Amino acid sequence: MKFGVCYYPEQWPEARWAEDARLMRAAGIELVRIAEFAWAQMEPTAGRYDWAWLDRAVATLAAAGHAVILGTPTAAPPAWLTRTYPEILRVDGNGRSRDHGTRRHYCPNSPIYREQSRRIVAAMVGRYGQHPAVVGWQTDNEIGGGHTARCYCERCAEAFRGWLQARYGSLDALNAAWGAIFWSQTYSDWAQIRPPGDRIDKKNPSHVLDYYRFASDSFVAYQQEQVDIIRQGAPGRFVTHNFMGLYRDLDQFDLARTLDLATWDNYPTGNPERWRQLLYPPGMDTSRCDPAYAYDVGDPIITGMAHALTRGLKDAPFWVMEQQCGQINWGDVNPGVRAGTPRLWAWHALAEGAEALVYFRWRATLFAQEQYHSGLLRHDGRPDVGWGDQQALLAEKALLDAVAAQPFMAEVALLFDFADLWALQLQPHRADFDYLRHLYVYYQALQRMGIAVNLAAVGADLSRYKLVIAPTLHVVDEARAARLEAYVQQGGTLLLGVRSGFKTVSNLVTDAPLPGLLRPLVGAQVTGWQSLPLAVGWAVTTDIPDLPGAATYWVETLAAEGADVLARYADGAAALTEHGVGDGRCLYLGWYPEGAQAAALLRYLAGRLDIASCAVLPPGMVAARRGPYTLLLNFAEGAGTAVVSGEAISVPGRDVRVVGG
Ligand code: GAL
Ligand code: ZN
Repeated sequence: MKFGVCYYPEQWPEARWAEDARLMRAAGIELVRIAEFAWAQMEPTAGRYDWAWLDRAVATLAAAGHAVILGTPTAAPPAWLTRTYPEILRVDGNGRSRDHGTRRHYCPNSPIYREQSRRIVAAMVGRYGQHPAVVGWQTDNEIGGGHTARCYCERCAEAFRGWLQARYGSLDALNAAWGAIFWSQTYSDWAQIRPPGDRIDKKNPSHVLDYYRFASDSFVAYQQEQVDIIRQGAPGRFVTHNFMGLYRDLDQFDLARTLDLATWDNYPTGNPERWRQLLYPPGMDTSRCDPAYAYDVGDPIITGMAHALTRGLKDAPFWVMEQQCGQINWGDVNPGVRAGTPRLWAWHALAEGAEALVYFRWRATLFAQEQYHSGLLRHDGRPDVGWGDQQALLAEKALLDAVAAQPFMAEVALLFDFADLWALQLQPHRADFDYLRHLYVYYQALQRMGIAVNLAAVGADLSRYKLVIAPTLHVVDEARAARLEAYVQQGGTLLLGVRSGFKTVSNLVTDAPLPGLLRPLVGAQVTGWQSLPLAVGWAVTTDIPDLPGAATYWVETLAAEGADVLARYADGAAALTEHGVGDGRCLYLGWYPEGAQAAALLRYLAGRLDIASCAVLPPGMVAARRGPYTLLLNFAEGAGTAVVSGEAISVPGRDVRVVGG
């Protein structure tokens, strides 16, 4: 396991750099990410470059034995650029443009910005591409962060029309794909088409879904220009981007496709604070994390899901490019972080498959937006809590490395797809129907059972999984249906859930009986569906232990067409079916399960499929397996006891135990 740190030499007196570099080594840091916001220092005025300071910063770090990761600085275009070309500014759905004074205020489709981006990246790569100390590059920074995934400017409008022409070829095809006949939306000239901004009251979901795709493709193309320049001028160096965990506005799989490595920015007290509003069940108090966890650790199951998604982006080990190591400044509460917690986060990242952990940031800033954000060092340069924990990690480095050399292992995959997510976000039908929450029901149940799970793209290689779960495989075309059928034919078990097969790729409802193109695989027909008020439930009978109870929230009745019926509603309609196809089987669960029901169904399937659980876990503890090692991570305040292969293992509060090996 490698350790790194995010460093901003431009924010500190040069006289301090060598001391910082030396102290980093003393903390076991060997990777330093720099420069991702320093455009104004690299190019103080148009075309006048100043590399001298960056040369010296890289040299100082290299002399201390560090490997350097350079970030391209395009997340923060300088004032001379934004003032000379205000058309590069991002425009929101109301037509208001952003202004200079922060970051991420650019439009990815501005030809001028694209040119400027290529130019500064080429200049940087020309200077440092072959530098022996520079081992890797990060494109931009958190693309889409700060609600900037979608721009609604005139350049984007124009580019959107081009994107649509390429996709549909003719206006007739577009009108049909969008159902534009509805409310007289029919377009008779490409020029009539605009982005679905906020001046439209009720938007056409096909129009919007295509805009989301277009916006995502825009950043993919924008990033690709940087990737190409880096690959050409910096041979042998890795290219990555720092993703944002469960961030939903851009297709992370697409953005990661041509990168060497996926990384993400892990803020365990901040991110879950936002995401739990989406992920916890409706009606649950989301003002704090689950009380099973200590107050300063965040919610490890939510953090774990973000690790899992990042791992799934390349279906490979990943890095944490920014790791919280003390309190942050942008959450609601920003709890103080106690000694022991950063170490637990580091072990958790390792348990989930991280190869390197890069702390954010080296030293707390004295100025500007992030003054209240901690680093490994305090404002005054003395060690903060993360420093002490990093020393503790160094003391156990041999064990960290032994575990890091082993593969992360999972026999279960949860399918994750951005078109499904967006289509459901646009038409949830009930306000609290959230795609991610539906995934989380299963993710959480598996984690609590000690069963490792990957988040996988629908196009990923699924053949190694014993069980693949697609809680809502909503948008389906022939190719997608065929992929899943092939997986099942070859012996896989696929569990599908409600609202699967409902939509076409252009976000229209299928005219085939549900679940549409998936019906032959499911071997059953969905005869009806409905959303239920929270207090209402339909009784379910089944022989699967612990599953009986009520179907709530969203229910679908099924009629078997070759499938076996594993559960029924009181009126006799099927509620859960199983269909043997080839060497495998496809199950369809006709309601949106509560956590305990998902757990019961998973326990039943895990038993049948011989899926390994690494441990029996008390509340607050999570576990993962890497090779022969089982890692037990206790996020509770007090000690807890897990059972691994029949042996009871006690783990102190906010601590970790590694078993086996
Ligand atoms: C990240 C960002 C960093 C810094 C950090 C603070 O989202 O990439 O530059 O702002 O948050 O927590
Ligand atoms: Zn734009």
